[in-house]
Amino acid sequence: MQKQIKKVVIPVAGLGTRGLPFTKEIPKEMLPIVDVPTIQWIVEEVLSAGIEQIVFVTSRGKHALQDYFDHSPALEAFLRKRGKNELADKLQRIGSLCEVMSVRQKEPLGLGHAVLCAQPIVGDEPFAVCLGDEIFPPWDDTNRAQPPVKQLVQAFQKIGSSVVGVMEVPLAETKHYGILKIDSHPKESDAPFKVVGTVEKPQPEKAPSRFAIIGRYVFEPIIFEYLKSTPKGAGGEIQLTDGMTQLCGREGLHALQMQGCRYDVGNPFFYVKAQVDEALRRPELAQPLRDYLKTL
Ligand code: G1P
Repeated sequence: MQKQIKKVVIPVAGLGTRGLPFTKEIPKEMLPIVDVPTIQWIVEEVLSAGIEQIVFVTSRGKHALQDYFDHSPALEAFLRKRGKNELADKLQRIGSLCEVMSVRQKEPLGLGHAVLCAQPIVGDEPFAVCLGDEIFPPWDDTNRAQPPVKQLVQAFQKIGSSVVGVMEVPLAETKHYGILKIDSHPKESDAPFKVVGTVEKPQPEKAPSRFAIIGRYVFEPIIFEYLKSTPKGAGGEIQLTDGMTQLCGREGLHALQMQGCRYDVGNPFFYVKAQVDEALRRPELAQPLRDYLKTL
C-alpha cells in the first residue's frame, strides 16, 4: 500500500535577517505577494498535494502565522453587516484551509534542529518539509499542473525513499544552497535520481554538482534519528543537509528536478519580481501597471 503523507513541517523560527528592517517585528512569512502572504502560497501548494496538517516550527514573535489561519468571527461579522460578503467569505475560507499545529524551537540551532523539533508531532510517519523563503506560486502554468510538493509526494510513493526537490543553478550560486553529490548526471529531467551526498553551501570550486536544494523535501521518519546525532556543521548550525547525507548511505535519498517558476522571496529582486508577475495576472491590476511601467 502507498504511504500517505499527512503532515508538512514548515520551519518559521528563523530571525529573518535578510528581510530586516521589515522582519524586526513581523515574520518574513507574512510578507505579501500583492495581498496574499507568502505562507498562504506555501500552504495552498501543500494542500494541492493532499496534505492538510501543517506543523509550524516557531519561535518568539511568530504568533501572527497561526492567527492568520484561524477564524476571525468578529471581523467576518463586521464585514457581513456592511454587505462585504465576498471579503468575509475569503476570510472564512482562510480560517478553514488547514489544521495548524506548532512546536517551539527555543534556540536558533539550524534547519536540521528545527526539523528535529517537529518529531513529537510528526511521530513515525513520512512527512514533507517546505521552507518559507521559496515559493512556487500556482499562477505559472507548469506549477498549476504540478506543484513541487505534489511532484515529490508522487515520487516518494513510487520509489519509496526520501526525496528532495532540486534545480540546476549557475556555478557562482552554489554557495547559497545545499548542493547534491551524484554519481552520474540524470538522463531524463523528470525522473527521480539517486543522491550520494549533500554539501551545505559549497564555494563554486568545491561544488560537487550544480543541483541545488530548493526547500521542498519528503522524508522517511528515520531522518529524525540521523538529525539527533548530527554535529554542528556549516555556519556552526545543525544542518539538514548533513542529516540527509546519512540517509544517502543507508535508506537512500533521491532527487527530483522541479519544473516551473520559483521565487526566493528573501532576495529583494525576486520579491519585487513576484509582486510584478502576480499583479500582471490580476485583471484589475494588469493594465494600470502596464500603463505605469510604460511611463518610466
Ligand atoms: C536552506 C538550506 C539549504 C537550501 C536552502 C534553500 O538554507 O540549508 O540547503 O538549499 O535553504 O532555500 P538557507 O537559505 O535557509 O540558508
